[in-house]
Amino acid sequence: MTDWAKVWDETYAKQPQIYGEAPSQIAVQLAELLRHRSLPVRVLDLGCGYGRDSIYFAQQGFEVMALDCSPVAIQLLQTRIAGTELAARITTVVTDALQSLPAPDGHFDAVYAYLFFCLAFTDAELTQLFAECARVLKPDGYLAGTVRSVYDRSYGKGEQIEPDMFAVPNAVRHFFSERYLERKLTEAGFALRSLDRRDETVGESHFNDVLVFVAQKQ
Ligand SMILES: C[S@@+](CC[C@H](N)C(=O)[O-])C[C@H]1O[C@@H](n2cnc3c(N)ncnc32)[C@H](O)[C@@H]1O
Repeated sequence: MTDWAKVWDETYAKQPQIYGEAPSQIAVQLAELLRHRSLPVRVLDLGCGYGRDSIYFAQQGFEVMALDCSPVAIQLLQTRIAGTELAARITTVVTDALQSLPAPDGHFDAVYAYLFFCLAFTDAELTQLFAECARVLKPDGYLAGTVRSVYDRSYGKGEQIEPDMFAVPNAVRHFFSERYLERKLTEAGFALRSLDRRDETVGESHFNDVLVFVAQKQ
């Protein structure tokens, strides 16, 4: 069985700036939605990497839990915020998100996940992950992020594991149709607020077709 933490550690050791420094457009969009909320505004950055978006959220005054399975990624984030005022607003966690999320029920105003759900998660694991996101969110909390779409140019490459899920060396990709994403969100108790298809370049990485979504817990 693949040790994904090790795979990601190796990626970040080789390419510590793989997704650049700038926050994602959808992180900025989510911050706007959260701005009117009463303090403290709490955000979980699921699969945060080295925390380019976690840092942006903390700069907006939000309390951030930055969670990733890669110790190397989290170390990069810790080094970047050490000695700054952001360190007090970002809690880092190294864990596999398939373990239950380390937060009480109804804790967060938002769960944010940039290119996370489209990784090596089966349909059953996605059901579990979306349910966990719903559990840790406040009743009107947001779940926002991006996933690779079924129109991505790498769709169909490698060995098929499940419908729309393929393994290539050192990566497993789960591609989402709009209908599949909406169904998973609805089944977990979310209402879809917006859904767009975009071509996104982040740092050294180009994704020709991602679904960008904002959902709200019902
Ligand atoms: C495509 S990267 C995106 C990183 C970050 N969100 C960004 O946009 O800069 C996906 C991240 O998910 C993390 N990851 C993969 N599987 C995970 C798991 N089961 N639990 C927690 N993190 C995981 C990886 O270590 C990696 O940092």
